[in-house]
Amino acid sequence: MIAKEVVEEVLARTDLSALIGGYVSLKRTGSNQTGSCPFHSERTPSFTVFSASNSFYCFGCGAGGDAITFVRKIENLEYEDAVEFLARRAGIQIRRAPEMFAGKRYDRARLYEMNKDAARFFHGSLYQNTPNSRAALSYLTEKRGLSKAVVTHFGLGYSPAEYDVFFNYMKGKGYTEDELITGFLCGRSERGGLYSSFRNRVMFPIIDLTGNIIAFGGRVMDDSQPKYKNSSDTPVFKKSKNLFAMNFARTACAEQLILCEGYMDVIALHAAGFTNAVATLGTALTEDQARMMTRYTKKVIISYDMDDAGRKAADRAVKMFGDVGLEVKLLKLSGAKDPDEYIKKFGADKFRALLEESRTKFEYYFESILAKHDVTVPQEKIKAINAMCDLISGFYSSAERDVYITEVAKRTDVSSDSIRQDVARLIAKKRNAYKQQETQKIHQTAAGFADKVNADFVKNPAAARAEEAVLGLLLLQIEHRKRAFSSDVALCEEDFCTEFGKKVFAYIREHANEADVSEFLNEAFSADEVGRITHMKIARMQLTDNGDGVFDESVRKLRASVISAQEKNNGMTLSGLSALIDRRKNEK
Ligand code: GTP
Ligand code: MN
Repeated sequence: MIAKEVVEEVLARTDLSALIGGYVSLKRTGSNQTGSCPFHSERTPSFTVFSASNSFYCFGCGAGGDAITFVRKIENLEYEDAVEFLARRAGIQIRRAPEMFAGKRYDRARLYEMNKDAARFFHGSLYQNTPNSRAALSYLTEKRGLSKAVVTHFGLGYSPAEYDVFFNYMKGKGYTEDELITGFLCGRSERGGLYSSFRNRVMFPIIDLTGNIIAFGGRVMDDSQPKYKNSSDTPVFKKSKNLFAMNFARTACAEQLILCEGYMDVIALHAAGFTNAVATLGTALTEDQARMMTRYTKKVIISYDMDDAGRKAADRAVKMFGDVGLEVKLLKLSGAKDPDEYIKKFGADKFRALLEESRTKFEYYFESILAKHDVTVPQEKIKAINAMCDLISGFYSSAERDVYITEVAKRTDVSSDSIRQDVARLIAKKRNAYKQQETQKIHQTAAGFADKVNADFVKNPAAARAEEAVLGLLLLQIEHRKRAFSSDVALCEEDFCTEFGKKVFAYIREHANEADVSEFLNEAFSADEVGRITHMKIARMQLTDNGDGVFDESVRKLRASVISAQEKNNGMTLSGLSALIDRRKNEK
């Protein structure tokens, strides 16, 4: 828990538009500032910073909140880390009390310290004078060809084969069994005994952007399975939000970033001077990771393994990078299964040459289409041309399309005019389909389908809208809050119809007397929920009259619509029931 005063001070000392301006280029429009939303891909700016209320809101994707929400989202941080991030930025000292994870108390700083001690232990274990240690060191240096300097740079290590050597050492350092289990360094057997999670493996520490060791990967040194064991998510580690070696690559990747599949690929690349290489942590690329990369680079070069799985993963990644607006190229390694092997076989200069001529998305698909269809057979040639036109129609720039059209014409011996016409037809078709999809999306959102934050909205949209109006007013002005809780109005949870509405109301009641009731939203709600709540407030701010009359009328509407919703749920309205009784009477 972070003290209320600290949150208030952090927010007061943070200039929201300066903070956001560090990530998004903002333009002044009237009293507000707008820019392109960093949380979704858009071409017309719908991201707005409202200086008056110290909040931001994106009319495109619904992200919104205050400085803390912004940092939670853009830096992928939990609430308390986001506050700490802003505190550090504003030069405020804060001390944090232990937190809870899976019902247990833990102290984040201690988990980082514990991981650091574990990494030191693993690294030291490489240099013990035992047969196992010597075998591990020679696996890394001889079998994998890493220099001692590289082993040190990446903090590589070795986890002893015995189930207890590691945890006895850690216990000696003062870490509890709970802490070791919470940090995934140990597990508990069915019989209740503790065991070390990583045994007889070479160890790869995973380091976050601020230099904390947050997790480990461990590889066997023979062909046994599983080849790798990686930390599961812990309070200080989310594998979907981190990248291996990003701590090193972040300062070397402004121009381009190399994305590989394996730890060993990244290490081999860094050792060969390509310090802009990173890898995912044993999972497919996630959208969070792709977005994170947009903050550090403009272009990603995918260098995945040259097997079927690697190619499939690369296709997915290409699409994902396109969605977040990153330029992407694919590396084709011939004669080696992965970058590690390629560099060992052919050397760094060959790899550098490959980087320079790495193919664009177009070239990659172009070639795979040509590989699939034999263009000397007319039917196949038509199929190939159709596939190529489809591919070209996906490019936004007409100059780019023209270049590719010429290329296709050359390779298939068909006039570029007819190809151009086909592409134009496809673009028109896609545009219509897109429009239809958008309209459908708008209808769905209006009807509350796809409403992840407030799943109940759809059950009764009229009442849910009335609810948002009242909540918006309550968030906006302390006067409304006073009135809401006076005996005159006596608003209570039962007046609200959705679970989410009830929860927001309960929060407002708890903080009713704060001058700015929104200040503690981030503690109580997810970042998406904060976005929705911000929208309720922003929607009201844009109306001219938010006075007492409007408030009373909104409460009246809310109560009326909630009652009528309840009647509907009970199967029949009271008036419907009496009409039925009357009809029966007449029938007799
Ligand atoms: P080497 O075979 O030593 O060259 O390893 P590599 O780093 O090149 O790994 P590989 O290309 O086989 O796999 C890519 C990544 O997937 C690894 O770095 C791991 O993060 C992950 N991975 C591979 N095998 C396993 C496994 O058996 N279990 C888990 N959980 N992850 C794995
Ligand atoms: Mn490999």
